[in-house]
Amino acid sequence: MAPTLLKFPDDFVWGAATASYQIEGAWNEDGKGESIWDRFSRTPGRIEDGSTGDVACDHYHRWRGDIALMKEIGLEAYRFSISWTRILPVGRGKVNQSGLDFYKRLVDGLLEAGITPFATLYHWDLPQTLQDEGGWPVRSTSEAFVEYADVVSRALGDRVRSWLTHNEPAVAAFVGHVEGRHAPGIENDWHAALRVAHHLLLSHGWAVPVLRCNSPGSEIGTALNPQWTIPASPSAADYDDFRHFDGYYNRWFLDPLYGRRYPADAVADHVRLGHLPPEGMAFVRDGDLEAIAAPTDFLGINYYTRVIRRSVAVPQSENLPRTVIPAHRSDWTEMDWEIHPDSLHHLLRRLYFDYQPRKLYIMENGASYSDGPGEDGRVHDTRRLNYLRDHLAASHRAIQSGAPLAGYFLWSLLDNFEWGRGYTQRFGIVWVDYGTQQRIIKDSGRWYAQVVARNGMEW
Ligand code: FCB
Repeated sequence: MAPTLLKFPDDFVWGAATASYQIEGAWNEDGKGESIWDRFSRTPGRIEDGSTGDVACDHYHRWRGDIALMKEIGLEAYRFSISWTRILPVGRGKVNQSGLDFYKRLVDGLLEAGITPFATLYHWDLPQTLQDEGGWPVRSTSEAFVEYADVVSRALGDRVRSWLTHNEPAVAAFVGHVEGRHAPGIENDWHAALRVAHHLLLSHGWAVPVLRCNSPGSEIGTALNPQWTIPASPSAADYDDFRHFDGYYNRWFLDPLYGRRYPADAVADHVRLGHLPPEGMAFVRDGDLEAIAAPTDFLGINYYTRVIRRSVAVPQSENLPRTVIPAHRSDWTEMDWEIHPDSLHHLLRRLYFDYQPRKLYIMENGASYSDGPGEDGRVHDTRRLNYLRDHLAASHRAIQSGAPLAGYFLWSLLDNFEWGRGYTQRFGIVWVDYGTQQRIIKDSGRWYAQVVARNGMEW
């Protein structure tokens, strides 16, 4: 059968995403303060290949060239994150003008190139000074975040028209404070993790009116990573484990953001498992839930893989493997994440039907494969191209089922520092040679350029 052209809605936004610590480098230049990722990556044993983001893609110095690459691919939008410690080196108080100037130049460069900037305020690089004062488990960090949001949006609010408060608060809370694989590297501290989750949500809710005031008419949202999850079997035990995971990982964030308070079954689970202190959810104060439920303009979704949950004997430990072993190795990317595009379709539909966000954006989606330049000097990353094509088709199906999906941001523009995995994982549609900082647009990037140009793809 001849391939058909899957057309996307006329105003669909085609973009790519990055995050400050993963690409910028220049970790201590022009007055930038230390972040928890600067500290964590220097701690021996924390990063798989012993690397840091000190240089990363050197984007801080090479941003002009990187905008030229975006232009070559034809990107309509670019999602990047702002480094808090470039702006407020110790988290609050004194503003570092050179930090603001860097982002002003970047945003102006994007606008000149006809690329719409989408700015994320917090993609995990908390100022180390605030961590030393207690980090996200303490409420004053939410206050500092609002001060930071205010400073940034006063400076950039006239030219950035799309704002994201946070990236994946669930990961910051649980991977940073239960699993310990991310900064600040705290293990098995559920009390802390639940306070972190609350203070991230609260800081989002407090920042929304500030952004609205400083950047009138702009669109504001956040990026979550809800997991499309199924039970491993129809057994009651597996179903209950699915419900438990969906509760603390997905609904714990979505419900309060959409005005439903914290899910009662998940609160009961946390009490039963001793995840909450004896005083329970006392960190939730009067007015917090109203603040968190501030109306937003979109819900951003980061999607890579699905989750299959099974019940295990020791429910206290969330670190035990609970995902089912894959049938075929080839169905997994090099992150060991299963490839399952249908789950993206299910997830988008569920989010729309359950929460009715005004708009949805896929804020991240992509695949890790290490394919590098061949003898012809090109990068034939066919597996990534297939991954992207299959996920775009799933996104298209979701639009057809009624989900108000307004755009797609591919992760990532560049190969970059993949957190605890260091430089062992490459997600870029542009190859980066970390020795020379040479960039090569991969086959997937060339293919994506055609998708953007045609506002659709063959299927
Ligand atoms: C997401 C992060 C992003 C990147 C991808 C692979 O969880 O938001 O920074 O690391 O995973």
